[in-house]
Amino acid sequence: MNTIGILTSGGDAPGMNSAIRAAVRTALNNGMRIKGIRNGYDGLMHGDIYEMNVSSVADIIHKGGTILGTARSLEFKDREGQERGAQILKDYGIEGLIVIGGDGSFKGAKALSDLGIKTIGIPGTIDNDMGYTDYTIGFFTAIETVSDAIGKLRDTSSSHGRAVVIEVMGRHCGDLALYSGLAGGGESIIVPEHEFSLDDIVEKMEHGRKRGKLHHLITLAEGVGDPYSIATELEERTGIETKVTVLGHVQRGGSPSAVDRLLGSTMGARAVELLLEEQTNLAIGFVDGKLIEVSIDEAVSKKSQFSENLYALANNLSK
Ligand code: ADP
Ligand code: F6P
Repeated sequence: MNTIGILTSGGDAPGMNSAIRAAVRTALNNGMRIKGIRNGYDGLMHGDIYEMNVSSVADIIHKGGTILGTARSLEFKDREGQERGAQILKDYGIEGLIVIGGDGSFKGAKALSDLGIKTIGIPGTIDNDMGYTDYTIGFFTAIETVSDAIGKLRDTSSSHGRAVVIEVMGRHCGDLALYSGLAGGGESIIVPEHEFSLDDIVEKMEHGRKRGKLHHLITLAEGVGDPYSIATELEERTGIETKVTVLGHVQRGGSPSAVDRLLGSTMGARAVELLLEEQTNLAIGFVDGKLIEVSIDEAVSKKSQFSENLYALANNLSK
């Protein structure tokens, strides 16, 4: 294999740049050419492709976001678009492709593999919603960002004797809310994996108030309920003033944590090794402290495993 391509797709995640850097440098060290495709599958459809060299990835390991840009492409979702994408890759002499992204991006990668492009997936998303890997690139940085915000909200909530509902990203996965709620010492965690009861939260708030707790921090995974209605109901029922903070896209930015840089670096290099072995349709993951590979089909079909133990722990520690 002489020439490979690399793209980032879906929501950006801190640590994507480490993976790009590792892939580019490993490819060049092995005498391959590597082309960057800007803005995910959308850029591919427009032939937004450039030759990368050792300097293209200089000074990026500490940078959030993705230097390649990312996008969501509707056009690429259907067969016609995918065939056009595969043809463009062939026209540019790209025989192998590294796709860094989430579930949707991996489905696109599988389609390209079926169309004869050797394709390897690297999991990059703050959601940690891919069941075949313990962690995705970006997740740990996002936990830092969210737990830092929870800490700040704790200060002001304690000062004012308030509760706060903090809406956290995650798409359909409660991991970010759970891990950051636990790390931030939040009192209540609402996630899609569990039915939630406002009665329980009311009871917890009242119990906390009786024992002199000044704040009550409720970490709410997006999509489970409307934070404003939840806050209004809690305030009406407890008499405790309850504010709302929607953290939004701030959760996706920032310099990647060391763990995300390590995940990105090891996975980026491994992806090139797999292409050198002429492998295709593989997703790289991190399981029990080691890099693993599974087929992309398996990667996208495996449901994310929610940690009941951590959920129970977070509840017990916040009583
Ligand atoms: P993520 O990769 O983070 O899950 P998306 O779900 O938005 O993000 O997917 C990113 C891109 O991957 C989409 O814009 C689309 O171009 C492509 N994609 C998503 N789903 C599919 C699919 N079922 N088949 C082919 N391509 C897909
Ligand atoms: O998949 C990452 C993610 O940040 C999700 O947590 C969130 O639901 C979504 O992307 C937001 O997407 P957009 O950047 O298009 O608003």
